[in-house]
Amino acid sequence: MTSTLAETNSSELAGTVNRTLVATKEGGVRIEERDYSGLVLRSGPGYNPARAGETVTHGVVIKPVTTCICGSDQHLLGAVPDGTAMGHELTGIVVEAGDAVQFTKVGELVSVAMNTSCGLCDFCKIQQTNHCVNTRHYLTTGLGAQADYVLVPWADWNVLKFPDAEKAMDLILDLSLLSDILPTGYHGAVVAGVTTGCTVYVAGAGPVGLAAAASARYLGASEVIIGDMNEDRLALARRHGFGGINVTAGPLPDQLIELIGAPHVDATIDAVGSVVHGGSPEPRSAAVLNSLISATAPGGRIGIPGYYANTLPGGSAGAHQTGQFGLAFGAAWARGVSLNPSVVPVAKYQPPLMRAILSGRLKIADIVNAQVIGLEDAVDAYADFGAGAATKYVLDPHGLTRK
Ligand SMILES: NC(=O)c1ccc[n+]([C@@H]2O[C@H](COP(=O)([O-])OP(=O)(O)OC[C@H]3O[C@@H](n4cnc5c(N)ncnc54)[C@H](O)[C@@H]3O)[C@@H](O)[C@H]2O)c1
Ligand SMILES: [Zn+2]
Ligand SMILES: [Zn+2]
Repeated sequence: MTSTLAETNSSELAGTVNRTLVATKEGGVRIEERDYSGLVLRSGPGYNPARAGETVTHGVVIKPVTTCICGSDQHLLGAVPDGTAMGHELTGIVVEAGDAVQFTKVGELVSVAMNTSCGLCDFCKIQQTNHCVNTRHYLTTGLGAQADYVLVPWADWNVLKFPDAEKAMDLILDLSLLSDILPTGYHGAVVAGVTTGCTVYVAGAGPVGLAAAASARYLGASEVIIGDMNEDRLALARRHGFGGINVTAGPLPDQLIELIGAPHVDATIDAVGSVVHGGSPEPRSAAVLNSLISATAPGGRIGIPGYYANTLPGGSAGAHQTGQFGLAFGAAWARGVSLNPSVVPVAKYQPPLMRAILSGRLKIADIVNAQVIGLEDAVDAYADFGAGAATKYVLDPHGLTRK
């Protein structure tokens, strides 16, 4: 396995084709063949036009071992310009490093925090990398990680090096989820106040919901129940020992009484958001949040990793242009239930969650049903995932996980 990684030779990269998965104007994705641009910023959608042609001296180029498809990618489709490079979940080998990179070496196997940040601003300094003021300095939409080669700025800060590359390759599917969904689910559980013995309900049995449920169990919850209307995803959740609720079968409090004898749980997590791809009865609303307000014990907390757009660029209508969702705030106030929304500060959680995986205590790839496919299969996988496949698709552009 180590020899596979060592075979990567950065001097051979000039002139290489960089297959890049991009958004289409029709709301789908296609693969574009681009020239390898190394540490030099391109022009076009997703890049800051003021910096086109600049060499990012503090950046590295990563050759992905894996780069996953996420629910957050789906929100961008139809909303970002044609040709925007997709993807933000990245694990791979450093193949080039800029002159200002000190601690990250060519040949190292690393996880990249999906929300790259500068490490220098006031928010980064207090571990709120999700609020970094410089994030969009170079790459305005996201990493564009679903490609053969990916530029990562502020590399010394943004990459997490695996201590033993050979062992890491044995657990590569689990470790691939450190780039986003495991920290995201874990953060949802933490801000919901999950602790030893508590009862938990997670809305959404997609990869983030399953990661939140797995995290809640890891944090010591006594009961973890997941709700969705997608029976395949509920079956996957039940297979891993979580309670499963089909949310179309009746009001949440009534279903909770049947399962745990109480109409509410101590902590709830919204892993759906307002843009939903699973045929939710009330898309683009606070329907999920409002159901969680009714299902959270008085004084409890709702963790909200699910995505609620404030201003989504491009086509989205209604609530996504105004950020107003019809929240039952009076009910939350009366119950003393607090709302804890945010993008996750991935970097904050990566080291401890990496150790949880390496110690064998958090088998997250099985729980989310991670499946490896080639980059060329990504167009179909986007469609399948958008239609609710009970799978976390892990793209392996160079066939490195199979060697
Ligand atoms: N905060 C962050 O940093 C962060 C990071 C990653 C993902 N996210 C967001 O987390 C959310 C989940 O991501 P994912 O990859 O699992 O997405 P996904 O779209 O695959 O999963 C969402 C699930 O919610 C289900 N659902 C729809 N309506 C529902 C309802 N009323 N009740 C219960 N379930 C319902 C769908 O059937 C689907 O299974 C998305 O909004 C995504 O953008 C946020
Ligand atoms: Zn993601
Ligand atoms: Zn910053």
